Amino acid sequence: MPHLIAPSVLAANFGQMDHDVEMLNQSATDWIHVDVMDGRFVPNISFGFPVVHAIQKVAQKPLDVHLMIEQPERYIEQFREAGAENITVHYEACPHLHRTLQQIKAAGAKTGVALNPHTPVALLADVIQDIDLVCLMSVNPGFGGQKFIPHTYQKIKELKSMIQERESRCLIEIDGGVNLENAPLLLSAGADVLVAGSFVFNSKDPVQTIQDLKQLSF
Ligand code: DX5
Ligand code: ZN
Repeated sequence: MPHLIAPSVLAANFGQMDHDVEMLNQSATDWIHVDVMDGRFVPNISFGFPVVHAIQKVAQKPLDVHLMIEQPERYIEQFREAGAENITVHYEACPHLHRTLQQIKAAGAKTGVALNPHTPVALLADVIQDIDLVCLMSVNPGFGGQKFIPHTYQKIKELKSMIQERESRCLIEIDGGVNLENAPLLLSAGADVLVAGSFVFNSKDPVQTIQDLKQLSF
């Protein structure tokens, strides 16, 4: 499968969100990554349902919704109604992760689990069959524009072999500090989906930057 590019609208201009989403529609974007932060699970607040819904109304690509919130099980159905195609919850925020994954499936969305940089991949072994997407955080979640943590490469390899051993079809997504330098290495380690926020939106020509990330061979 060719790798997927998921630009994060956390780095978009919120004053002209329609315009920025329209730009993504016209680009090689595969998924639109939408970061929801509650000010409790992470030390930042981004946006909630109305903004996700507003993005969905304009978007012509699936919304990849990353919930950096405590007790995400309280809001799964509402995010699905707001237009989420993939719903990713944090391992660290879900004491009953298996149940939460079933809830996401029942809502009709694809299941995602995100791991903070300190959380070992091995902890997913018993639920890997229930996950469509593992999001490996390559920065501490909460903010765009942070520096990539190189230990991520090792985690990708471990996760890839777990997926193969357990015959799961789960995709590996990398989120945080992705750029054109580390992207080929991430892909050759086994990443399937690259999230990129500031690298795309702060570039001179975001459409071209997305194309560059999409066209990488490794
Ligand atoms: C971080 C978010 C990321 C962020 C990535 O908490 O989950 O999705 O938007 O931004 P960059 O690519 O700038 O690190
Ligand atoms: Zn994210």
